[in-house]
Amino acid sequence: MSGLEGVVVADTRLSKVDGARGCLLIAGLPVEEFASSSFEAAAARLLEEPLDLGKARVRVDGLLRPLYSQLQDRKPIEGLRLGLSALPSDSSPSEIVAAFPVILGALRHGCELTSPDPELGQVEDLLRLYWRQTPSKAKVEGLSAYLATVSDHGMNASTFTARVVASTKAERLDAVISALGALKGPLHGGAPGPVLDLLDELSLASNIEQRLTAKLMAGERLMGFGHRVYKTRDPRAEVLRGALEKQESSERLKLAQRVEQSAVAVLAKVKPGRALHTNVEFYTAVLLDQLGFERDLFTPLFATGRVLGWLAHYQEQTDEGRLIRPSARYVGSEPALA
Ligand code: ACO
Repeated sequence: MSGLEGVVVADTRLSKVDGARGCLLIAGLPVEEFASSSFEAAAARLLEEPLDLGKARVRVDGLLRPLYSQLQDRKPIEGLRLGLSALPSDSSPSEIVAAFPVILGALRHGCELTSPDPELGQVEDLLRLYWRQTPSKAKVEGLSAYLATVSDHGMNASTFTARVVASTKAERLDAVISALGALKGPLHGGAPGPVLDLLDELSLASNIEQRLTAKLMAGERLMGFGHRVYKTRDPRAEVLRGALEKQESSERLKLAQRVEQSAVAVLAKVKPGRALHTNVEFYTAVLLDQLGFERDLFTPLFATGRVLGWLAHYQEQTDEGRLIRPSARYVGSEPALA
């Protein structure tokens, strides 16, 4: 089956994606409810144990500080990969999860990074380390909703990658770094940056529908639309649109809502029968932009939430799974028979 579409590769208790009805359960809760959890509560539900993230951020800061000058000014996704690779191979789930806000802060501030505050929640500390100021409650809530919303989502490409690595009995840090590589691609977690590029372009267009039609006719894909599993609106898009409405109002949100309406209509006309709707990346882009992050930080932030799912799947695979080792049909040449 091309792209393994429809192939079931594991049993999981972590999330249920109902693509036909547009419903998502994470750790047994509808995504709309799960999204209102604090990061710590979301982590505890998915990993079935509380993480001590405050103390772990302080430990990771001590371990990685000698590397900070090398992290600053790198492409964020590369800096994140480098920072994670510098952790000890046998890092605990708490240390791996806690490394994300610390590394993101070091990408921006290098050796000048202030120390993590173990008394704060992970999201508040992330925003404080990154922006060097106490974040507003609205910003903490907006980013918490985002991170919980994207924390797990069935057998997506990066989660599958994590499970394949787990199935070889490599360590959990190896699974996380490999999954990050899969997440980086524009067909997976690399889409929200290009969504903003699309919105920038359309903000100058005199006729949005015409411009979108021309792009589709030229064979382009509209970033933030279409999904392998959802054949209706991605429920996470709705949750993030709700989170955005609690932030300060913005012209970008108004434009995004106009573009969404036009894009769905144009996709239905130009690609009939394909059921192409808004996916999570569309409002992710608008929300993270509204929270002030640069677009090359969007994928690292996605990873900051999704790492919970990767680690939970690592555990599930380790507890219950076998080595994942599918087959390929050989279609190459054969030596000529003598
Ligand atoms: N814009 C235009 N056409 C599209 C789009 C899109 N966004 N998505 C799918 N199509 C079309 C394809 O061109 C194809 O049409 P054709 O048969 O006439 O050639 C048809 O729909 C099926 O496309 P596939 O690529 O086979 O569908 P697949 O299930 O593999 O695609 C994917 C899923 C990769 C997400 C796709 O919809 C896409 O490229 N979207 C844009 C990128 C994006 O938003 N990625 C983020 C996804 S969400 C996430 O990973 C967290």
